[in-house]
Formats: sequence, structure tokens, C-alpha cells
Amino acid sequence: MTAIPVDRSPESTLAFLREGYRFIGDRCDRYGSEIFQTRLLLQRTICLRGRPAAVLFYDNDRFVRQGAMPMRGQRTLTGVTGVQGLDDAAHRQRKAMFMSIMTPSAIRQLGQLFDDEWRAQIPVWERSGPVVLYDEIARMLTRAVCAWAGVPLAGSDVARRTTQLHAMIEAPAAIGPRHWRGLLARRRAERWAADLVERVRAGALSTPDGSALRVIAEHRSDQGHLLPRRIAAVELLNIVRPTVAVDRFVVFAALALHDHPHWRDRVRGDEPATEHFVQEVRRYYPFFPVAAARVRRSFDWQGHHFPRGRRVLLDLYGTNHHPELWPGPEQFRPDRFAGWRGDPFGLVPQGGGNHFTGHRCAGEWITIELMKRAVTNLTTTMSYQVPPQDLALSLRRMPALPPSGFLIDAVRRTG
Ligand code: HEM
Repeated sequence: MTAIPVDRSPESTLAFLREGYRFIGDRCDRYGSEIFQTRLLLQRTICLRGRPAAVLFYDNDRFVRQGAMPMRGQRTLTGVTGVQGLDDAAHRQRKAMFMSIMTPSAIRQLGQLFDDEWRAQIPVWERSGPVVLYDEIARMLTRAVCAWAGVPLAGSDVARRTTQLHAMIEAPAAIGPRHWRGLLARRRAERWAADLVERVRAGALSTPDGSALRVIAEHRSDQGHLLPRRIAAVELLNIVRPTVAVDRFVVFAALALHDHPHWRDRVRGDEPATEHFVQEVRRYYPFFPVAAARVRRSFDWQGHHFPRGRRVLLDLYGTNHHPELWPGPEQFRPDRFAGWRGDPFGLVPQGGGNHFTGHRCAGEWITIELMKRAVTNLTTTMSYQVPPQDLALSLRRMPALPPSGFLIDAVRRTG
């Protein structure tokens, strides 16, 4: 048995928050090991990186999710008692509910709603001065996902709900006001979502068949019980919140088009090139740094001992930037995806493994669809200028975003 390299510091939470996306990767490089142990949030934690590690991490026989995500993440980002913390039959059943919403036609419909929002916004941008793309896309996605999910949303409520959803996304890795805003936003958003669920169940709000709100409000466990309203609220927000979070990827796509302008011509009217571009944006840019699990029962792997109950983190960012998987990982090269056959454990911006039986992101296909629509709109439907601004992307800030939020100016319809 080989001892797992142990990080020298007695407690590394602040180092993790300070160093950000490279925290695990830098230590793996330093120790010459794809595995090491550290202390995070006062608990011994095994950190892993790379494809074999991802294969291990997504083995349901080895790991559970109950109690894996730190409370600060549950109380802001994901909510407590949602699908993320379930295991085994309870997880499969709840996950099936999510995946039943993700039909190809429903995904196309959401993409169309997003497109419609985009086209409606162009004349407004044409008349205005510079706009912050991040804020604009966030509001468009809030409107689109609510319409799609069967959630009524008055025009006057769009800004407030978007701010709440953003606050939850910003909060888990923050200390102080940014974290507190996330706690408050979650409480308010859960009340809103729980009320919607109640109204659907009481017949006071009609929603289209198959819409997320209807599916969640009417979902029954194997024992025939409806979800408690608070859990239903958490799950409805598990659809709405991350869909709005696609705004970050849209900003990253805009940034990539700005930094690699020849790709504007490459993607225009070229579906495969658009797909490769979107995949490279998801691989290259930082979003979720890690996924967390706990050891189900003790086992040994590659000569290392994993004791029962130990928290384990898989470095998602580091795996997407692993030189053995992705040659020249720090270069933005969409062509690497030409002829790519797919690898559920190599490209893991939204988790790895299987969507139905594991914890891989339920919204990955939605994300790709919305990103493709965004790239097409940014290159085909309109032209714009990018005024001087601070676009430096820091890997120390989680979640990452260019400080300016990506300002665009002089927008003109072109298609
Ligand atoms: C889970 C990333 C968009 C719904 C996850 C996980 C990650 C992730 C890293 C956890 C994987 C794991 O625990 O192993 C992202 C990113 C997105 C995104 C970067 C881009 C904005 C979406 C969208 C939806 C969604 C659009 C729904 C419409 C979910 C759900 C889970 C999840 C329900 C929990 C799955 C489970 O525990 O079985 N996502 N996601 N996500 N995501 Fe996403």
C-alpha cells in the first residue's frame, strides 16, 4: 500500500478559496501524483484528478453523495434535500424525473424561446449604448426558462428573480456579503417556487403537459407520495437556476470569439464547427471547479487506501486541462473535437459518467443547445463591437467571470 501524499498545511479551506481552480492541479503537479490528501472545512479530504480518477469517482458502488456537499454549498447553490444528495434507488427515481423533461423536442423548444428572446432584444440593443452581455443574457434566459418550465413571470419580476438566481450561483465559494446574499436569495426563491408548486397542485395554476413545473409538482415517489413542497421547490430551482447559469458559458463563448476572431467565420453556418467550438468553450473555461462524494465503504485503488466516509473531490477543471487527455490543454483549439468520439470521463465540465444512473448534470444537453444558439446569434444574427474593458479572467475567483461582464456596443442586426 502506498501512502497518499498529504498536503503540508493543517487546514486548506482558505488556500482553496484563494487559489481557486488550480488548487488541486497545482498540488498534483507539485507532488507528482494524481491523488493527495488535504484538510478542507476541517475534514480530511482526498483530492483526485484525471480520467482514471473520474472513472473511479463515478462508480456508484464506491461512493455516495449523501453528506458530501458542504452545507455552505447546499444552503446557497443547490438547496438541501435535492437530487444532488440522493443515492441508489431514491436517486435513480428522482433523476428519472429530471431526465423525463429533457426530450429532444423540449430542448429544441427551450432553444427556440432563447432565440426569440435574442431576436427581440437586438432592436433594443441597437438603440441603446453599450450593454453588459452577462446581464442581458441572464434576463433573457430567465424569461426563456420560466416560459419553458410553465412558471408565470411578470415582466416587472424578471430583474428581481434573475438577481436572486445569480446570488445563489455566486455564493458557495464566497465569504461575507456575497455568501449572505446567496443565503437570503435561496430562502426567497424557495418560497416563490414552493408557492408555484402548491398552486399547480391546487388546480389554481395551469401548466402545459410535460413542463418542468407540472412534472415536479405531480411527481410521485415509488410509494406514491408527492414530493414535500420544500423539496419540490428545490428541484424546480434545480432547473431554473442552472439554466440561467448558462449565461456564463455564453460570455465565455463571446470571449473566445473575441480572442480567436477567425473562429467567427469558421462557425458561421457550419453546424459541426459550432459544436466543436461549444465543446472547447466548455472544456477550456472554468466553471464548476470540483464535484464531491464520500467513500461508501473502505476500498483500495491503485495502491491507495480510501477509508469509509472520507470526503473525496474530483477536480473537474483539472481533468478538463489534463495534458494526457488534452494535448496543449491551455490552448483554445476547437479542432481537437473534430472526430472526437465522446468520452464520459474525459470531458467533465458538467460531471462525468452516466446522466441517468449517476450524478452527471441533468442539463448538459440543454446547455449545449443554448450555447450553440448563442454562438450562432453572436456570429450570424448581429454584429457588434467590443469596447475597451477589463476582460482578464482570474482563475482565483470561483465562479469565474471577466470583470466587465463583457460589454458590447454598436449592435446591428445582420440576419
Ligand atoms: C449537476 C454543472 C447546467 C441541472 C451538475 C454537476 C455539475 C454541473 C458539475 C454535478 C455533477 C456531479 O455531482 O458529479 C453544470 C454547468 C452548467 C449546468 C457548468 C452550465 C450552466 C445545468 C442545467 C440544468 C442542470 C441547464 C437543468 C436544466 C443539474 C441537475 C444536477 C446537475 C439537476 C444534479 C444531477 C444529479 O445529482 O444527479 N451540473 N450544470 N445543470 N445539474 Fe448541471
